[in-house]
Amino acid sequence: MTVPTRTLVTGATGVVGSAVIRALRAAGHPTHTVSRGSNDGTDHHVWHMGAEEPPAALRGPWDAIVHCVADTRFNLPDTEAEDANILPLRAALSLAGPDTHFVHLSSSFVTGLEGDITSPSRDAYRNSYEWSKAAAERLVHAERDNADIVRFPIVMGARADGNLDRYSGFFWLPAAMCNGAVPALVAEEKGLMDVISTDDIAAHVTQLLNSGAPSGHRLSILGRGDAAQRVTDFFDTILKALNDWRAENGVAPLDPLPYVTPEQWNRFYLPFSEQYLDRVQLLKVTAFRAYQGYLSVTHPFDVTVRVPETRDVLYWSVRRWAETHESSARRVPRPWRA
Ligand SMILES: NC(=O)c1ccc[n+]([C@@H]2O[C@H](COP(=O)([O-])OP(=O)(O)OC[C@H]3O[C@@H](n4cnc5c(N)ncnc54)[C@H](OP(=O)(O)O)[C@@H]3O)[C@@H](O)[C@H]2O)c1
Repeated sequence: MTVPTRTLVTGATGVVGSAVIRALRAAGHPTHTVSRGSNDGTDHHVWHMGAEEPPAALRGPWDAIVHCVADTRFNLPDTEAEDANILPLRAALSLAGPDTHFVHLSSSFVTGLEGDITSPSRDAYRNSYEWSKAAAERLVHAERDNADIVRFPIVMGARADGNLDRYSGFFWLPAAMCNGAVPALVAEEKGLMDVISTDDIAAHVTQLLNSGAPSGHRLSILGRGDAAQRVTDFFDTILKALNDWRAENGVAPLDPLPYVTPEQWNRFYLPFSEQYLDRVQLLKVTAFRAYQGYLSVTHPFDVTVRVPETRDVLYWSVRRWAETHESSARRVPRPWRA
């Protein structure tokens, strides 16, 4: 077993980076960390990667670098997504030498609409996030003779209690269900929703570092694959988690939302209702559009590492969100009116 002596984890304060750091340290890897903001951990370095020169203490080469920096928003303008997801990667690569074990974290959705990462065309991807993450994978291939690339689906919290260090992206959805921003679930009921626990990712990255750098490019795809939750089961789990928490806290339950297929929504409901919606309602509906593609995936991801069952992970993550976002979780949705 190879134990890297000098490991750098970027994106230390993020959902994934924080869990990876805990796991690496628990496994005995001396780990230095980076983010734009400070945190109270030891060996943490503040660095706006891609915008500033690296602090002297971070000059490489490192034995191992785990690159967790990203901006996971789907709706950034293309140039901003490129700056957020490519420039920090270039900065991380500049700290690596030929013997560095470089681990790049990516997304299962990076294959976009065509099923692979080869196309540089924006049209081959659902959004600027996928497009820039695909460009990031291509950059890792171009710049390094060897590297690990680890793809995974939507990230939920710890297996024990659902805890996450940061709530972003997906957690817009339970918030929107509580405040009434979502009038219907625009989804294929037979669609698959693959999610993963931070613990699964952290354990896999630790295992990769323990086993040493690969001789070439090694791709891991983590998830449940064809055993992922169906969309209906996924939303039932979220609703149950919210309503169990609301019952325990004396708040009226949420009603299940009706399902509408993306085609019905985009061709009929939206064009018809758009003329009657006010500015705020329109903003909410447009924000929701960014997620539609992900609720309509009927072809499972081909995983290389199948993680254990995730229904409980989703349940506890949503409950934990409610506990830590009490005023949002207590909201009572108001019916939509034009
Ligand atoms: N979350 C998901 O559902 C999901 C799903 C699939 C794949 N992934 C992938 O998992 C990886 C980690 O994502 P995440 O969810 O942990 O993201 P996150 O929670 O948004 O965290 C991003 C981290 O990167 C740091 N950061 C961002 N820009 C930086 C910059 N220019 N210089 C230095 N630090 C910077 C942030 O810290 P500061 O804000 O303090 O700088 C934060 O620590 C990414 O590769 C992402 O694409 C995430």
